[in-house]
This record gives sequence, structure tokens and C-alpha cells, in this order.
Amino acid sequence: MVTRSDFNQFMMPVYKPAEFIPSKAKGSLLWDKNNKIYIDFASGIAVSSLGHCHPLLNKALTDQSKKIWHLSNALTNEPALRLAKIFCKHTFAEKVFFSNSGAEAIEGAVKTARKYAYLNFSKTKNEIVAFSDAFHGRTMMAIALNGSNRMTEGFGPMPGGIKHHPFNEEKNLEKVINKKTAAVVMELVQGEAGIIKAKKNFVQKIKKLCKQHKTLIIVDEVQSGAGRTGSLFAYKQFGLKPDIMCCAKGIGGGIPIGAILTSSKIAESMQIGSHGSTFGGNPLACAVSEQAMKLIATKKILNGVKKKEKLFVDGLKEINKKFNCFENIRSAGLWIGCKLKVQENFNLDTMMKTCYSKGLMILKANNNTMRIAPSLIIEDKLIIKGLKLLQEAIQDQLQ
Ligand SMILES: Cc1ncc(COP(=O)(O)O)c(C=O)c1O
Repeated sequence: MVTRSDFNQFMMPVYKPAEFIPSKAKGSLLWDKNNKIYIDFASGIAVSSLGHCHPLLNKALTDQSKKIWHLSNALTNEPALRLAKIFCKHTFAEKVFFSNSGAEAIEGAVKTARKYAYLNFSKTKNEIVAFSDAFHGRTMMAIALNGSNRMTEGFGPMPGGIKHHPFNEEKNLEKVINKKTAAVVMELVQGEAGIIKAKKNFVQKIKKLCKQHKTLIIVDEVQSGAGRTGSLFAYKQFGLKPDIMCCAKGIGGGIPIGAILTSSKIAESMQIGSHGSTFGGNPLACAVSEQAMKLIATKKILNGVKKKEKLFVDGLKEINKKFNCFENIRSAGLWIGCKLKVQENFNLDTMMKTCYSKGLMILKANNNTMRIAPSLIIEDKLIIKGLKLLQEAIQDQLQ
């Protein structure tokens, strides 16, 4: 028997889980231990891209579990090869490396970019440019890239050679991206910052400077990838071909997996022994991700994202008309941020609590933004029902 207070007793206090204890989930519904039902507008944090326990993902998992669970990288891993082929078929990539998480993919991507610059250009071309309000994970390199004091304080010394520039600020970009820059690391839509899209001119200027200085562009699609924005990967909407792309979260449909995607030329810099992972690309994760990616890459699911986005945004606008509770509503597919007009008894914490009490799961993002990132195949009737619960939650708080 486990209780919520066991968390405080046995777990490192880096998280503060909700009071209820989930016991099972199916599609976009989740049940707690008292059998209360919740509509899931969160899917982990943009992870369970096809909802919970999708029957085809379950089948892929159980089928593979009866064959081989683990293989060392000294052996040929068929599920990993099949999955790598899918990524290469649907993206710019020619080579793939599998990790276990998004931050690990970021680490490997930065290593790859630096090694490429070292071998092809100069030993001093090693600087990395990252942007304000970014989120790339929690390893040392990732927090150094994030650049916020909140995440780095007390963990120094940080990895060096990183420069920060304000996101979406074209001015002075040429001062940070120069011949010493090995790579620029960027999200095209910043998720943790509250669903903020990169501006076209900003992206174009980065592209131009990177071409001029032979600098690689690492696109972090850990959260924006796997259909979240309505394209299989968001870069397809931004007129930008990444040199290296990092994925994780939604590509596994709930199983832990990450990936670094790149060209053959760049991948050549990483030779035997220069990188690796015991569990990265393990057959179980790859078999599930293979099935998830096959489904997500279909027109049916990707077109559905855009239709469902409209349903959400129209509903949220209606709520805002009634309660004047959001400063803005920003969306990129099924990835929606509503910046709250914070007032007494109405903030992100009270919102989360009240939504849970109503049976609705939502997410927080920075800057007082409520984030919605449901399964890509959430049923329309659950969207409508969930928005009704959200409206009730807002009404309760504002009355
Ligand atoms: C854009 C982005 N990059 C990287 C990460 C880190 O991924 P992980 O938590 O799997 O290490 C996240 C996680 O939220 C993310 O949103």
C-alpha cells in the first residue's frame, strides 16, 4: 500500500505531485485510486501522444517483450534499425542515434556539433549559442543552455563556451553568432516558456548567419515534434532544415526514448567510442516508438491535430469572452498556452487545483501560462467536456 505522504518520505523533493494517485488510464481518460475520472489535457507533459495504453502500442510492447528486451550495442538491434529508417524516411535525417530522454539527446547533439567543428574547421570553433527562456532539460549541459539562474544556481561550475541571446531578437545576433560558433541550439516553438513561436525573420537571420560562419543549427523538437504542432516535426513549418534535431517525449507515445537526427556528413564526426548509451535504443522502446511514429506520420492524425486545435481555441476564446481571464491564447497545433490574467484567488496553482477537483488535468508553463497538450487523438467530445470543466473551474475561482 502506498500513500501520497510516502512521496515526502521516500522521494527526493524535486517534484510536488498532485494529491490524487493515478491508478489506470485509457486514451484521454485517467482514473485515480478512488475511481474518480479525469480528462487528460496534459498527456504527461506532451508525452502520451496517442493517449494512454493505445492498443497498437500495447501490442508492439507485449510482442517485443516476448522476443528480446535488451541488446548491447555490440549486437544488431532490429527494432532500432526499423525505427531509424522511419525517421530518415520522414525527415531531413540520414543518420540517427537513440538516447533515453530529451536532455540526453541535447547532450549528444552538442557533442556532435563540437566534434564536427573541431574536425572540419578549427579547435577554437566550439561556442554554442542558446536563447533566453529556452528549455532543453536538466543535465549540466542542458541547464547551462537554458541559462536561467533558477535552474543553474548552486550547480556550478557550468560547462563553458555558451552564449545567450534574447529569443526572437534579431538585433545583435551577428555579435553572438560568428566564426567561433560551432552551433546554435534552438526551439522553434518554446514550450516551457508558454508556446512562443520563433518569428520568421529571426529564424531567417539565424539561418543566414549560420551559413556564413559554417555553424550548425540544432533544433530541439523534444516537445514540438511527433505531430504536436500539426506537422510531423515543427521545422517543416519554419522554412528551416536543421543540421541536427533532437527528439524525445511524443516519439515514444509514453515509453522513454530520445533521438538525435542528422546528416551522414555530420554523423561521420562521431566515430566508434565517441558516444554511446547502454539503454539508448533498447528494443522495447524502439518497438513501441516504431508503432507510434507509423501512426503519427499519417495524414489522418496530423490533419486531425489542426481540426482539434480549432475546437480548443474556439472554446477557449468563448471562455475568455465570458470571464476575461486570459491575456492571450497562443496555439501551435495541439499545444496551447493561455496566459492568465492573474488576480486574487486566480493563478496557475489555484487553476491546477480547481481543475483537478473538477476532474481535468492541465499543465503549467512559465509566465503564468496554462498549457494544454493532450493526446493527438483526443476525442472531440472529450475536448468539449474538458473545456466545460475548465470553464466551471475558472467560474468557481473568479466568483
Ligand atoms: C524542448 C525540450 N527539450 C528538452 C527537454 C528535456 O527532455 P527530458 O525531460 O526527456 O530530458 C524538454 C522537456 O520538457 C523539452 O521540453
